[in-house]
Amino acid sequence: MDARLTFPDPLVGRERPAPGTDLIAEINRLRREKNAVILAHYYQEAQIQDLADFVGDSLDLSRKAAATDAEVIVFCGVRFMAEVAKILSPHKTVVLPDLNAGCSLEDSCPPGDFAKFRAAHPDHIALTYINCSAEVKALSDIIVTSSSAEHIIGQLPADQKIIFAPDRHLGAYLNRKTGRDMLLWPGSCIVHENFSESELIKLKARHPDAPVAAHPECPGFILDHADYVGATSGILKFALESDADTIIVATEPHIIHQMRLAAPHKTFIGAPGADGNCNCNNCPYMGLNTLEKVYLCLRDLTPRIEVPEATRVKALQSLNRMLDMAPRAAGQPDLPNG
Ligand code: 13P
Repeated sequence: MDARLTFPDPLVGRERPAPGTDLIAEINRLRREKNAVILAHYYQEAQIQDLADFVGDSLDLSRKAAATDAEVIVFCGVRFMAEVAKILSPHKTVVLPDLNAGCSLEDSCPPGDFAKFRAAHPDHIALTYINCSAEVKALSDIIVTSSSAEHIIGQLPADQKIIFAPDRHLGAYLNRKTGRDMLLWPGSCIVHENFSESELIKLKARHPDAPVAAHPECPGFILDHADYVGATSGILKFALESDADTIIVATEPHIIHQMRLAAPHKTFIGAPGADGNCNCNNCPYMGLNTLEKVYLCLRDLTPRIEVPEATRVKALQSLNRMLDMAPRAAGQPDLPNG
């Protein structure tokens, strides 16, 4: 395993549940007792998706985090997502099952470097993908998600110069789609960079009628083979609405759980990585959250997410611009626990 992905074990020193504990029953008891809402991203393991009050994409989860009247938000996703919840709902307790659940895109854009880059381009606004730290959000003008970016760019004057950070693949895709020439930060997602074009071509040859639905964090050479490109919610909607019986899915494969729940008669195949299967496209950060850690963070209300107030206030402005400019989730598919 890559050295970056070796994490300290957050369970060391904590009182673990007794063997045989019914974790789901305990989580249900605790969430009522603590007035907690459990939000989960589509990339979480199936058991966590099944017990969540809401499963969604980054934009839907931001809206839910802003609107909930629960006192505690258990964020089953990665750290930047939980930070967004805290920025939008500062008086709530926000917990993340494993604080090591980071994001390679966030890591690729250190705030100090981003501040220097911005200073070198004073005539550009910064349109920043939500997969970044609270500090980088505070240094940005407008936050976007993959489901809102195109719509938001369409509202900006055609001659407005734009920095897009940190995902160069999403940025390049948006440049192609909108005809803009945004200046791209050179970051990328380790999960979406792992898909193999040659293996995808072989898979398509075996399933000639299967459309490919891909996330725009994939490199362009993967998107060139896609019949649909969109955020996780869009990929799910496409997979459910497509007439095809078999769909190839080029994003983190845990989303396939929702597809199978909603369309058990269809076949969903994860796009392959270089080794010919899709295991190397499991997000190692999302995978750090487990049922046991969800139980422990609800029981102990730790690890908590905190954002310094000066950073939070600035980051809130750029997030609120997104929430004001982004389309409402009209196309949100009907999910069992949505
Ligand atoms: P969306 O759920 O908004 O498509 O984002 C996926 C992602 O990048 C999660 O880290």
